[in-house]
Amino acid sequence: MTILTAKDIISGYTKVDILYNVNIKVEQGQIVSIIGPNGAGKSTLLKTIFGILKPRHGKVELKGEDITGLKPDKIVQKGISYVPQVDNVFPSLTIRENLEMGAFIRNDDYSGRIEDIYTLFPVLKDKSNQKASQLSGGQRQMVAMGRALMLDPGLLLLDEPSAGLAPRLVSMIFEKIIEINASGVAMIIVEQNAREALKMADHGYVLAMGKNVLDDTGEALLTSEEVGRLYLGG
Ligand SMILES: Nc1ncnc2c1ncn2[C@@H]1O[C@H](COP(=O)(O)OP(=O)(O)OP(=O)(O)O)[C@@H](O)[C@H]1O
Ligand SMILES: [Mg+2]
Repeated sequence: MTILTAKDIISGYTKVDILYNVNIKVEQGQIVSIIGPNGAGKSTLLKTIFGILKPRHGKVELKGEDITGLKPDKIVQKGISYVPQVDNVFPSLTIRENLEMGAFIRNDDYSGRIEDIYTLFPVLKDKSNQKASQLSGGQRQMVAMGRALMLDPGLLLLDEPSAGLAPRLVSMIFEKIIEINASGVAMIIVEQNAREALKMADHGYVLAMGKNVLDDTGEALLTSEEVGRLYLGG
């Protein structure tokens, strides 16, 4: 089953178009990775899917339902969560409070969900009363992902989850991504760490200058001479 399609998306911040007829599709249970040079429009695409930007043209469908132009608070209720590239935690709140913020639209008892997040990221339980500002980059990324998971989304959008992390933490974050995916959450991951992102991807897209350049299975893109030369640093 197709979870998400973004069709012929034209989108931007000002009058200038940043995305030109971009297409992307996510099937049930998939990890879809988006790679491409700086300024390609990767973050803009995630913001458009999540309703932060309204596309000027094109359509976003979630399981066949047209969600184009819905605002983030509505999109989140439909089962999509988003972890932005920057400013993705509340620094002055504790870890637990950050997770509680993720549950803001839940009226039920979400304490079990917090325990699930602590099981996924045990270090967050140990530090649950510490302010997010005191955490390392890797721990902050775990808080951001944990917060996004509080609503039990069917689709998770991750913008540069490994950015700025030491290699050991990059592997740890990627292992967690695979674990979250194995629990049934489909994902779109934007990554600079393109090789690793394609390794775990069922499907990958290359964007450049606001356009689709290539898409194929993660494996096919990894072994493509053109992708290697142009987008994976040889
Ligand atoms: N808030 C904004 N207002 C105006 N233009 C923006 C804004 N954010 C990004 N842009 C522009 O949109 C284009 C695409 O940016 P975007 O952040 O989507 O690229 P990206 O592929 O995510 O790049 P990176 O790998 O550096 O994160 C760039 O030209 C950028 O300058
Ligand atoms: Mg970006």
